This record gives sequence, structure tokens and C-alpha cells, in this order.
Amino acid sequence: MYLNPSATSWTAPVTDPDGDPRTVHRALPGFAPTPLIEIPELATELGVGRLLVKDEHIRAGLPSFKILGAAWAVFRGLGGTTGTFEDLKIDPDTTLVSATAGNHGRAVAYLAKLLGIKAHIFIPAGTAPGRIEAIRSEGALVDVVDGDYRVAVAQATARADQDPKALHAADVGNSMTPVWATQGYRTIMHEIDDQLAGVEPDLVVVPVGAGSFASTVVSHYRSDGPRPAILTVEPDSAACLLKSLQAGEPVTVPGPHPSVMAGLNAGDVDGHAWPVLKHGVDSAITVTDEDAHEAMRTLAAANVVAGECGAASLAGARNFLATQKLRPDAVVVLISTEGVHDQAAYDAVISR
Ligand SMILES: Cc1ncc(COP(=O)(O)O)c(C=O)c1O
Repeated sequence: MYLNPSATSWTAPVTDPDGDPRTVHRALPGFAPTPLIEIPELATELGVGRLLVKDEHIRAGLPSFKILGAAWAVFRGLGGTTGTFEDLKIDPDTTLVSATAGNHGRAVAYLAKLLGIKAHIFIPAGTAPGRIEAIRSEGALVDVVDGDYRVAVAQATARADQDPKALHAADVGNSMTPVWATQGYRTIMHEIDDQLAGVEPDLVVVPVGAGSFASTVVSHYRSDGPRPAILTVEPDSAACLLKSLQAGEPVTVPGPHPSVMAGLNAGDVDGHAWPVLKHGVDSAITVTDEDAHEAMRTLAAANVVAGECGAASLAGARNFLATQKLRPDAVVVLISTEGVHDQAAYDAVISR
């Protein structure tokens, strides 16, 4: 575990987007705020006052929160600032290109379908077949690369570089699209604020792959509003953020990253996210596959559907609170970032 006692008092640089991602989000088919679900039994188990789960198992019809980042990144990448996709003139020969561990690529493929353009997605070998098929089902060309996520990123970059009609809709790397994606994720934080109606959380728990989403959470809570502690959670086999925080500089965790938490299987912390995470994360912890599966079962018993990455938040909170004490009336928010990609696989985990 990593602890940074000065993180809560750090203030993040202001990163207001040009335009409001929520305008684009609200215009997506089936868009609605996701629920913040209180689970009193879990608060009792963890020895805290209130436990709430921000449930992203369906977001605008897709099984993860990633559409929020992808939609704003693609909108900005296609030249939009205000309005919605309807206001853009889009070249029908455009191809959206991206690497993915699963969810971002699905969101990009879905957007391409929505906009009547093409998508070409690169995904690491070993990704669960259900996740690959889900991307193909959106009409995208999917290349399963012989390597881990870093290899997929390299191939997507090369593909986008040689095509003037391509928009590289990356959610990691040095371009602007990862920055726009983190701005898009901010919609979750605005919703949590509204749903808490003035109640200030003491601890917010967030699953981490490359750390972009966590950087949104840190930026939001290290400004002029509430300043909860922020706990990041990673698979024990892909703990690039934990290792980087411990070293005080970015550390690569070489693949393969075999965990069941596919969206969290990143070997590098994103370069845009790192400076924010370095200063603003209070605690970082890892979980095993079995921890994540156990958390999926617990959440299912409380009628909350959570896939492996989503349930990682509860698994991390359990591991953290096994040794760290919060006030008995503490308010804890777990962000559950995904739902079900493969119903049979989910049912098999839940029935164990
Ligand atoms: C479901 C889910 N949760 C969390 C994450 C982690 O996001 P980040 O890579 O920005 O840390 C991902 C990334 O793809 C994801 O798919």
C-alpha cells in the first residue's frame, strides 16, 4: 500500500474544457445520469457511516463509463467545441482509430456507428472473446495484436499516422484526445455532487488502468469543493500507478498483464495523468482476481451489477479498511466503472 498524507491539501491546476461535455453527453441516445446507490449492509461490514456506489454498469446504453470520455474526445477531435455531433460536418471517409483494453474501443466503435463513419480498433491478444466480439458487433474492424496493451497502442498510432482521414481517438498518450477524454469523465463527478446534495464524502475509491479517469477524480476533488481522501485500486499484476507512486517517478510494469480486470491491465501511467496523481492521490492499493470476483458477488447480492473493473473499487476498499481506520460516520463513495460484457461469464462468477 502507498500513503501520501499531504495529498488532500494539494490543489490541482484548473483544466476547464472549451465547451461543456455534458451537452454532447445529453444528446447521446439513451443518455441518463447513472444512480448513486446506498448499501447500508456494506457500510456496516466496512465499519463506516455510509457506503454509496456510483453505478456505471450502463452508461448511454454501453456497459461502462468510457463513452463519456470517448464522446467528448471524438467531438473535439472532429472540430467541435459547442453544440452536439449534429452540428458537425463530418467527412464520411473518416476512420476513428484507437487501442483499447476493451471498453474505450467499444465506445469509439459505437460512436463511429452513430456518426456513420468507420472504426479500426487494436486490442491485446488474450482479451476475453466477449469483449472483442462486443467491439466487432458495433461494426468496427478489430485487430487482435500479438502483444500487450502497449503493443496495441503502438499499432494504433502507426495506423492513424499513415491515414490522413483517420482521427486517432486515443485515451492515453501525448495527443489532446486523452486530455479531452478526462474532461468528458468529469460528468460523473458532477452527477455525484448533485446526488450527494451537499454531503461531503470522506473517501472516494477509483479503479485505475493508465490513470486518466483517476486524474479526473483527483482534479475534481483537489479544487475549491470537498476534499475527500482518494484511494486508487489496481490489479496486483498491473500495478503501474502504485509502483510509480512508491518510486516517485513513472515505472513501467512489463506485460503480459493477465488479470480478469481487463480495463485495468495497463503497464504505464498516462503522461498527462501522472503529475496530478503524483500529488493528489492519498492511497493506492492492489487487489487480486479473486478479490474482484468476491466483490462482484457481494455487489450482486445487494442488487448492484458490477463487472470485474467496477467491483475492484469494493475489493480495494475492503483491503484498505482492513488496516486503515476511518471515522465511524465516514461517507465512502465507490466508483463502479463497468457492467457485464459476457453474461455467461458474469453468471458463472456470481453463482460460485
Ligand atoms: C471499466 C474500466 N474501469 C476503469 C478503467 C481505468 O481507466 P484509466 O485507464 O483511465 O485508469 C478502465 C479503462 O479502460 C475501464 O475500462
